Amino acid sequence: MKALILAGGSGTRLRPITYTGAKQLVPVANKPILFYVIDNIVSAGIKDIGIIISPETGQEIQKAVDEAQLWDAKMTYITQEKPLGLAHAVLTAQPFLAESPFVMYLGDNLIGIDINSFVHSFQVNTPEAQILLKEVENPSSFGIATVDEQGRVIRLVEKPKIPESNLALIGIYIFSPKIFDAIHEIKPSWRGELEITDAIQKLIDWNATVYSSIIQEWWLDTGKKDDLLNANRIVLDELLKTDIRGSYCEESKITGRVVLPEDSEVINSYIRGPVILGHGVRIEDSFVGPFSSIGNKTRIIGSSVEHVVLLENCQVNGISRLEDSIMGRNAIVRKINNIRRAVSLIVSDDSIVEF
Ligand code: DAU
Repeated sequence: MKALILAGGSGTRLRPITYTGAKQLVPVANKPILFYVIDNIVSAGIKDIGIIISPETGQEIQKAVDEAQLWDAKMTYITQEKPLGLAHAVLTAQPFLAESPFVMYLGDNLIGIDINSFVHSFQVNTPEAQILLKEVENPSSFGIATVDEQGRVIRLVEKPKIPESNLALIGIYIFSPKIFDAIHEIKPSWRGELEITDAIQKLIDWNATVYSSIIQEWWLDTGKKDDLLNANRIVLDELLKTDIRGSYCEESKITGRVVLPEDSEVINSYIRGPVILGHGVRIEDSFVGPFSSIGNKTRIIGSSVEHVVLLENCQVNGISRLEDSIMGRNAIVRKINNIRRAVSLIVSDDSIVEF
């Protein structure tokens, strides 16, 4: 079994953060989303992983994965020249996938469950395709499946205007090589993309077995600001363990689950977990409230922040309440005149916001 991670695409939905970077590398609890995806694949015993990258962000992704050196797996990077659809990405990877069955995993999705048991049931039942589904409230935003009582998929429609069910494709699929025949038979959709949903529907039209599993655990498509803040909240809530190695003075207070690395400092401040601080962080005369992820070398001075994702090397200075916010790398938010209102922002890399 091989795996194919889709980390290409253009990342329009999380702009402005993704103007300057790959959306799959946006961190949740200070760890890139893509790394959770790789963790999940590797823990299912898959060691041969292809990663679809785009010409714009591919180098950044390759560098991040190679430098992390976290996995005992072989990575093959496959450039998709244009984001012409998920099925197009699979076709681009055909030389790598060859005759092997494979897990296809969208590189910007997070789920609260191991894929182990799905890989196992595919190997035992040997269908042509197996898809993971979850009930959603807004089915028109996803690929939607209709299934029978045995979990066999009867119909699939990509982002239907009038949905037949509320079971969404969550972006994790397992295929036999028969999927290539199906992709060769489909045409681009109304949005100009070769849809994997249409290719799977083609398999169904051919009476091939397509099974589904419905997951109850959380699933987050991290495409938008609120989704990302939500993912950050859930991951901090479920996975964060206290690890305090850095220094904090007597005037400071730390409560709840907090990660404070050895080279970070907390001066005259209150940190209320769950909060993760990266390396070289400095918190001074400030409050850092629950569900905050603070990237490496970020400084928070004379401010109060809560429910935020701050990437590397940011500065927040003199802001009385910053909440529900995302700041890109090297971004600065600081006070010049008096403001007392709470602010909620999404600030791209290298930006400066002054009040
Ligand atoms: O998130 C689940 C949904 O993902 C499913 O319910 C839909 O059926 C499926 O089509 C997909 O829809 P999206 O419109 O959300 O896909 P998106 O364009 O966001 O792309 C998903 C990932 O695949 C993302 O990491 C970028 C990557 N990608 C996308 C395209 C279009 C590629 O690598 N190449 C591509 O050509």
